[in-house]
Amino acid sequence: MMLSRILAIGLALSSGSAWAQAVPQLKSVTVDLPAGDRQFPGGAAADAINNNCTACHSPGMVLNQPNLPKAAWDAEVQKMITAYKAPIDEADVPAIVAYLVEAKGAK
Ligand code: HEC
Repeated sequence: MMLSRILAIGLALSSGSAWAQAVPQLKSVTVDLPAGDRQFPGGAAADAINNNCTACHSPGMVLNQPNLPKAAWDAEVQKMITAYKAPIDEADVPAIVAYLVEAKGAK
């Protein structure tokens, strides 16, 4: 990623020999941005939580909460629905809670 940025800067500098009246030209470059924490990890097991729980806050925010028992994660998901009006598909709730218990369950 860094390399492509350096190349882009190099191109921009070397192509401007007629500095004075040259109109800046925008060139398309390919930049691979880091995935960051925009998705919950875990592949297919994380589909339900990724589809329902990333609209308002980051996965990191959820994953940095303390480990909680299943009942607490159940209540947390219900709180998102009732208190914060999260548009969560009821059919996905069991898979979301299962993911949370697996990733952040109180052991
Ligand atoms: C409609 C927006 C919205 C959606 C969608 C949403 N949340 Fe939240 N969530 C909030 C708000 C608002 C807060 C409290 C303010 C904050 O800390 O950002 C919050 C806070 C949290 C917290 C921190 C603890 C707490 O209760 O404040 C957790 C954990 C959490 N959400 C989990 C989830 C999970 C899991 C889902 C998917 C089932 C989800 N959220 C979907 C809005 C949302």
